[in-house]
Amino acid sequence: MLLYEGKAKSVFSTKDPSIVRIRFNDKTTAFNGLKKENFKNKGMTNCVISTLLMGLIEHAGIETHLIQMVGDTEQLCHSVDIIPVEVVIRNIAAGSICRRLGLVKGYKFNRPIVELFYKSDDLNDPLINDQHAIDFGWATLEQLDMMRRKSLKINDVLQAFWLKKGITLVDFKLEFGVVPSGKMLLADEVTPDGSRLWDVETGDNFDKDVFRYGNGELSEAYDKLLRRITELPQNL
Ligand code: TMP
Ligand code: ASP
Repeated sequence: MLLYEGKAKSVFSTKDPSIVRIRFNDKTTAFNGLKKENFKNKGMTNCVISTLLMGLIEHAGIETHLIQMVGDTEQLCHSVDIIPVEVVIRNIAAGSICRRLGLVKGYKFNRPIVELFYKSDDLNDPLINDQHAIDFGWATLEQLDMMRRKSLKINDVLQAFWLKKGITLVDFKLEFGVVPSGKMLLADEVTPDGSRLWDVETGDNFDKDVFRYGNGELSEAYDKLLRRITELPQNL
């Protein structure tokens, strides 16, 4: 049974109420759904990439909702209540922070910048601070601190992974959820839809900016990214 239909994924129930099936689709939206298009195989690519990256994150000691990938475009995951606060980690200036703070795209931060956004399509995911999240009951201070700590550790894991593939991790967005016991898990997805990934040599985008700003074919960029991930290292 369909439990929830998001923009790029659908969540289905299973016989076990503590487990859900998440299907990645080919739909792509940008600017909060203003721009829409379908890209062949995007669901499969994102499902494979998210499965791989969540595996790495899990291996680094941060628990995720992922149980296993099933078929080409689906994952079995622990069912969580999503905390409606998105964590964005930025290593290099791009996107909304450039507009908000007048920064030059490509400016390298001395240390990763952590930003929080309220997960609300109606409000276009506004930037928030701790007090908003706590006073409006979206998360506790303990949860926010845990989300920041986990996100920074995930940044270390992902930066190292992408660098080995010749890719700079510019920024990315994470969502967390809680299971009934109160334990927090990384949830949602870790994909090029929710990250900025630049070729170290050329600066080319391997992410959804290709679609947002119409500078190339998204399917081609994602195919190249998948090939980059799966190809043998140069020294083997
Ligand atoms: P921003 O520069 O638009 O704030 O985006 C920062 C990062 O977060 C970027 O990698 C894309 C990702 N992101 C999402 O995954 N979903 C969203 O709704 C938004 C606004 C950004
Ligand atoms: N994730 C949002 C959307 O799907 C915003 C974006 O990615 O630009 O519209």
